[in-house]
Order: sequence, then C-alpha cells, then structure tokens
Amino acid sequence: MSSAFFALLAGAFSLFCFYLHLKHNYWKRNGIPTVKGCVPLLGHMLPMITKRMNFLEFIRLAYEEQKDHSMVGIYKGTRPVLIVRDPNLVKTVLQSNFSNFHENGIKVVPEADPLLSKNPFFCYGEAWSTGRKRLTYAFSNVRLKTLFAAVSGVCKKFEKFLNGQLKTSNKYEVDLKSLFLRFTGEVVANAGLGIEGYCFEDDAGASTFYNLVGNTTAESLATIILFHYPSINRLLKLSFLPKSVDELFRNVVSENLKIRRNDSTPRNDFLQLMIDMEKTGEVIDEESVSAHAVSLYLDGTETSSITLNFIGHDLATNPEIQEKLRKEVRSTIEKHGGLTFEALKDMTYMNQVISESQRLHSAVGFLQKLCTEEFELEGSDGLTYRIKPGTEIVIPVSGLHTDPKYWVNPDVFDPERFNDERKQTIEKMTFLPFGDGPRICVGMRMALLQMKACLATLMNNYKLELSPRTQLPLKMSPHYFMSEPLGGNWMYISKSFELTVRAF
Ligand code: HEM
Repeated sequence: MSSAFFALLAGAFSLFCFYLHLKHNYWKRNGIPTVKGCVPLLGHMLPMITKRMNFLEFIRLAYEEQKDHSMVGIYKGTRPVLIVRDPNLVKTVLQSNFSNFHENGIKVVPEADPLLSKNPFFCYGEAWSTGRKRLTYAFSNVRLKTLFAAVSGVCKKFEKFLNGQLKTSNKYEVDLKSLFLRFTGEVVANAGLGIEGYCFEDDAGASTFYNLVGNTTAESLATIILFHYPSINRLLKLSFLPKSVDELFRNVVSENLKIRRNDSTPRNDFLQLMIDMEKTGEVIDEESVSAHAVSLYLDGTETSSITLNFIGHDLATNPEIQEKLRKEVRSTIEKHGGLTFEALKDMTYMNQVISESQRLHSAVGFLQKLCTEEFELEGSDGLTYRIKPGTEIVIPVSGLHTDPKYWVNPDVFDPERFNDERKQTIEKMTFLPFGDGPRICVGMRMALLQMKACLATLMNNYKLELSPRTQLPLKMSPHYFMSEPLGGNWMYISKSFELTVRAF
C-alpha cells in the first residue's frame, strides 16, 4: 500500500517536473533567448519575491545582459513574458501596430477597485477613449492655464513653508521626496479638487491630503500579485487603492458637485472643468468624476515627486548646472514680471534638465503591454516571433535610456543632450519617460507644469546641497516598485541670497 502511494507520488512529481520543464522551455522552443536566473516554478520572480531587487532593476539588468538580441524572454512564474529591446519593435508595440497591443499588462479587479478600474490606464475600447478624452480636455493649453492659478498658489505655500523651516536655522535638512510629496499633494487638493490639502502643515490632523499621499505605494507581496499575476488577483480580488483614499475622493467630489451645480462662483480647478464639460452636453456621472480625480492624485503625485526627487539630486551633485538653471529662472521671472504661465514656458534649459534627469532615473522604468491580436514580430537581428493574444510584453524604458548604443557616456548627467540641436539626433523610441503612441501619458503637460513651477520656486530662492546622510552611489530600494533611492535622498536646503527675484 505504502509503496504504491510512493510510486504514485513519484509519478506525480515526475509529471510536475516535466510540466515545469515544458513551461520553462517555451522561449527556447520558439528560438528566443532567455534571461539567466530562471528557477523552477517561480521563473524569474525570485529576486523580487525575496526583495533582493525590484522588477524595474531586474528588467534593466535583463536588458543589459542580452546586448545582442532584439527580443528576450523571461518567465513570471511559468508564464512567458517577452522583453522587446529593439527601438523598432518598441515602435511596433506602442505606435505603428497599437491595435494589436492596445491593452496595458497591469490589471485591476473592478469589484475591488471600482474607481481605479475607470482610470484610462486600466481601460480599453470605449471606456478608454471616453476617459482619455476628458483628461485630454482638462490638460489642453487653455485649461492648463486655468489650473496654473491654483499651482501658483501652491508655490507661495511652498515658499512660506521653506522660509518657516529656515527661520531658526540656516540649513533645512530633508529627504527631498517627502518635501515634493507635500507639493504634489497640495496641487491635487487645490488644482484638482478645489479643497485645502494642509500638506505643508504637520499638525493639521490625520485625514489631510499629506497623510494620504504616499499611503498607496508600499511594495508588498500584494503589489507583486497586483502587478505580475492578474489571474491570481481575479480570484483574490486585492485592491490597489486603500479604502480611505477611495472614500475621501468620493465624499469630496460628491459634496462639491452638489454645491457647484447650483453655484456660479468662478473656480480654477479640475472639478470645475468637469462641470463645465457637463454643460456642453457630455454626461458625466459622479463615479467617473471621482475616478478622474483619483487619476490626478494617483498618477500625478507619486510620479511627479519621484521625478522631482531625482532632479533635485542631479542638481545638488552638479552645482554648475544648478547655477545655470538658477540664472535662467531668475532672468525669465524678471522678464515676465513674475512666475507666470508664460514664464514657465520660456524656461527651456529647465526642460533640458528635466528630460536629462528623467533619462537617467526614469520614474516609470518599464511598460507592460498585452498582445490582443496575433502578430509577427521581426527584430533587426533576424529574430522572429509570432506573438499570440494574452502574451505580455515589457518595454525596458530604463535599459533604453542608458544604453551606450544610443547615448554617449550614458551615466553622465548632461542636459545638453536635449538642446535644440542635439535633441534632433536622439533615436526614436529610446527616450520614453512618458511612454509613446496613443497611450502616451495623458497628464504629461500637467506633470511638466507642476514640476517646472516647483523647481522655479526652489531655484529662485534656495540652494540644494547633498547631505552626507544620502548613500552614494545611489542604490535603488528593492522594497518599492518604482525608483526610490535606498536610505533616502537627503538634502540641505538653504537661502540663495544673491539677486533673488520676486516671483509673486
Ligand atoms: C512626471 C510625472 C509623470 C510621469 C513620469 C508619467 C509617466 C507615465 C507613463 C510612462 C505612462 C504610460 C504610457 C504608455 O503606456 O505608453 C503614463 C500613463 C498615464 N498617465 Fe502619466 N506620468 C506622469 C504624470 C501624470 C499626471 C500628472 C497625470 C494626471 C492625470 C497622469 C495620468 C496618466 C494616465 C491617465 C495614464 C494612462 C494613459 C493611457 O493609458 O491612455 N500622469 N504616465
């Protein structure tokens, strides 16, 4: 009896091993090279599960390991996932054959994340184009100018906060990301919802915006499942958005819509833009407006503060570039008689600094796309692969951003790469901080507006110097799914007295 049981067990085990062998040889059978480090059952996910590195870092290393190939395969567990390394293939997926790859690879479960499931990032088809149309309308040049009034107010609060910190000491030491989260959080509260965020006040209570921002992003087993195992999450129904955030947005939107539908007081925020859109005949339900406001918060606060965090680091470690930027900021503010919308547009060296920092440290270091219709992918090295619906594709943004094939001295921070002349020589699809194609970041202009306003306020009045608490060289935290320096990005902020120009 027991020997029969063991024989059965051994048979089942052998069958299981054979199944794993078959699964983990999928790429070999299809003539696609496989990234090193595949382990039975977990595939390539072991470093993320054991928190040795995050997926972004893993994809960057995988990109570097397979220098000579246009496509490489990995396994998320037993599921094959394709990394496309060739800019031409990236173009195929993001742009030229968008209809074959129009869904994103990350999914949320609508019952668990009702608001998030309406975010264009998680939608496709009709729902995607409706959501995208509304956000595109909100961030057009004219509307952006309206939103700028609120952003400008946040700049004043930011300045007041920093002056307060510098009242008792001539240097304020801070982990820059937390400082920028205050800024981007207040922008969402003021420019998004038309409410006070109290993000620059530490004693304003637990339910303020500042206590909510940063609350959604800790890396955990749950985020690994959410990001990489959509089929498991269909069963577990884990939610990405904390209940507290969901409730806050629904309540604020509901209360404000009730008041504003019967009130003609002019307002300069995103909520008002949605109400104005309603007046043009567009049917906008409360749930959708809450979902768009969440989009502004979730897509806007974290990505923008991560980007600002790295820009701050690059400026502190390159003082001559910081000085050049400060000169541009002050002369442009002077020319325009203040920190106006037009002044920000005129700060072109600032655009170069932002782009170069985004190249070196992309907030979104990879994109996950899904094949929705069979397609023959052909790499420049002769590799071909007939991709089937349901197969996930990774675009290795960070790898492309730092590949010496496309960038001379890729590790050097050099904003001149993005000057008018040299910008023209950048190979298409090798610089993707906001993605590309029909799904390119719909909030890009809003993101640039708030980041430029924040940086201009900082550069006009203050100086950034690296604190010895920052661990150099920067190492990325394995505990977070986006880019975050391990141990923080600690900075000294002090007044920059010479020739300060009045911005407000
Ligand atoms: C520096 C800040 C930001 C960065 C680096 C960033 C980056 C990105 C990237 C890489 C994508 C994916 C694009 C693709 O799949 O090709 C994306 C999509 C998106 N972003 Fe942003 N983003 C930023 C700020 C914002 C802001 C402020 C909003 C405001 C609402 C926003 C809303 C969205 C939305 C809704 C999508 C999905 C678009 C779609 O799938 O059609 N983002 N963003």
